[in-house]
Amino acid sequence: MEDVWTEKYRPKILDDIYGQIFIKDRLKFFVSKGNIPHCIFSGPAGVGKSTCALALARDIFGETWQSNFLELNGSDERGIETIRVKVKDFARTRSLDGKFKIIFLDEADALTRDAQHALRRIMEKYSRTARFIFSCNYLNRIISPIQSRTAVFRFKIINDDEIVSKLQTIVKAETIKTDEKSLDIIAKLSNGDLRKAVNILQTAGENISKESIYNAAGSVEPEYVKKMVTTALAGDFNKARTDLNKILMDYGISGDDIIKQIHESVFSMELSNEKKLPLLEKIGECEFRLIEGSNPRIQLESLLAQISMIGKK
Ligand SMILES: Nc1ncnc2c1ncn2[C@@H]1O[C@H](COP(=O)(O)OP(=O)(O)O)[C@@H](O)[C@H]1O
Ligand SMILES: [Mg+2]
Repeated sequence: MEDVWTEKYRPKILDDIYGQIFIKDRLKFFVSKGNIPHCIFSGPAGVGKSTCALALARDIFGETWQSNFLELNGSDERGIETIRVKVKDFARTRSLDGKFKIIFLDEADALTRDAQHALRRIMEKYSRTARFIFSCNYLNRIISPIQSRTAVFRFKIINDDEIVSKLQTIVKAETIKTDEKSLDIIAKLSNGDLRKAVNILQTAGENISKESIYNAAGSVEPEYVKKMVTTALAGDFNKARTDLNKILMDYGISGDDIIKQIHESVFSMELSNEKKLPLLEKIGECEFRLIEGSNPRIQLESLLAQISMIGKK
């Protein structure tokens, strides 16, 4: 696992976690008291929920953290019965150092309401020996009897500066050749998801280029799409179609993503309203057909043909 960077560079202690300042402070306060309440870590993917649960356990238990920490997953198809059995086995024995044990249930919002009610009863039963930490993407999918018995922490997306600074530490450790600009692009493409950012960096390779970044992110450079649209507007439908096929085939970008990028590029182009408005209308129609499930290549080719007609007017 160590060659997967998200694992290799996962912070081990609370102090090394990026962002989530308020949450870190609260958790460190718990560590200083040597006790924690049941917790819910709620928020989007890749922002440090699992990392905080692990780091909290390390900070509280030190060396023996692994024998005091149980990780389970709510989307595990075997369901609440497996959870019950595993919790029972784990919580039965007292923690070696006389403290409590931590049970981390990842993706708790994947459990049905019935399963969550069962979970709440399990929680009550083992309250003396165990603390539960739940993670979820959507707090409103957690039943209120659980919410009311836990301290809720709302995790935020990681801002671009923090993402870049985390990436810089990895770049340094791995001695990759890159520049600030590339890291900025990765941060933008990650939308606040630090796991995604680290994965893009690793996939983009040792000699990072703009192209390798967009490739790694499963995306295409905005300039490339813009060039295709400009070519169509200039009336060269055939060349624009070649560009489209390249984006669809070589880059493997979905029709939905391409139409979004076409929309953005036309929106930001300097064009008269007589051209821009009909263009946006055609793009909207195309988007609608794609949502309805029409063949992306046929729809996008037809859009490019319409764009080149509008261009010729
Ligand atoms: N706040 C953070 N600080 C540092 N690294 C982070 C942070 N959030 C995510 N990461 C990186 O992304 C990976 C996944 O983070 P994780 O905590 O599992 O996210 P999730 O919120 O989905 O549980 C970590 O292994 C780490 O490399
Ligand atoms: Mg997680």
